[in-house]
Amino acid sequence: MNKKIGTKILGTGSYFPEKILTNADLEKMIETSDEWIRTRTGIKERRVSEKDEPTSELAYRASIEALKSANISLEQIDLILVATITPDMLFPSTACFLHERLGLANPVPAFDLSAACSGFIYGISMAKAFIESGLYKTILLVGAEELTKFTDWTDRNTCVLFGDGAGAMILSASSEDNDILSVFLGADGSYSGLLDLAACGTACYKKASINERKIKMQGREVFKIAVPKMALAAEKALNFSEKELKDIKLFIPHQANMRIIEAVAKKLGISMDRVFVNIHKTGNISSATTITALDEAVKTGKLQKGDLAELIAFGGGFTWGAAVIKM
Ligand code: COA
Repeated sequence: MNKKIGTKILGTGSYFPEKILTNADLEKMIETSDEWIRTRTGIKERRVSEKDEPTSELAYRASIEALKSANISLEQIDLILVATITPDMLFPSTACFLHERLGLANPVPAFDLSAACSGFIYGISMAKAFIESGLYKTILLVGAEELTKFTDWTDRNTCVLFGDGAGAMILSASSEDNDILSVFLGADGSYSGLLDLAACGTACYKKASINERKIKMQGREVFKIAVPKMALAAEKALNFSEKELKDIKLFIPHQANMRIIEAVAKKLGISMDRVFVNIHKTGNISSATTITALDEAVKTGKLQKGDLAELIAFGGGFTWGAAVIKM
């Protein structure tokens, strides 16, 4: 009988554009204050991509870092998955642009997946299923976003929240290890109107105003639903993994708002010293938050080899999800 295939995490990487937009910069653009933004969101600054630096470029740079950390050659990759809601174009996919930018000689499949801020966790679930079914052996999974290009810079309710960045993970088939212990995903489309980016989608192509093509959000309503759904996802994934809260070294929630993160920790009954936070310097970068936070936790030694972590996310759709992983 064939030995069961597990999914091993070989490496992670991340990349942020160089340009920093601080709360002080925003004070010059809209009626706001550093104090309001910090106390309501926890954000102090965010990164902003250049006009000629598309999402696939951030994805490329994060992928190169992940390949280095995994210590594998490009040619070992046999599938590219990119989670994004801010693609270079409607098509070709950002994954195809990344394929080209990497200079991959192999015509391996490449496609995007759209699950907003839960995108990377949806991606982990897909990568695990592809690997453990035996279909693909080594997957490059990326979460990459340029939300600042779809931000309404006249709307102080939303423009203080978002940033740009990308993170990548290499996952591979293993007969010895299984680093993705469990994944739980959920969605409820009835909430779609509370947080959206109509952009140039087919439902909205008649919209004349450019500002109608930007991210729109009813922040307070999103907040109320995000907290219970993230806590639920965390509990479900933990149950599926047959682990307990005490077994998790670090909880890595979606970095949308510091108050959401604290409320989820309180609901789960965990202290904040077990929760990874880097929102102060990134803002909300949607599908890239959990992977860039995980990468930073690994690189700063907060997560060591063999430690368990739980990624937890919530986003537009609404979508939510959590994954228990071993580094
Ligand atoms: N600077 C100063 N004042 C601001 C402001 C800003 N950037 N943005 C909003 N305000 C004002 C509002 O106009 C309002 O003023 P009013 O009372 O005179 O009408 C006041 O602050 C309170 O607004 P409100 O929307 O009730 O604030 P809030 O405490 O709910 O915080 C968010 C707003 C957006 C920070 C908060 O709702 C939030 O974080 N929601 C979740 C958003 C999120 O993370 N979404 C992504 C999930 S994936």
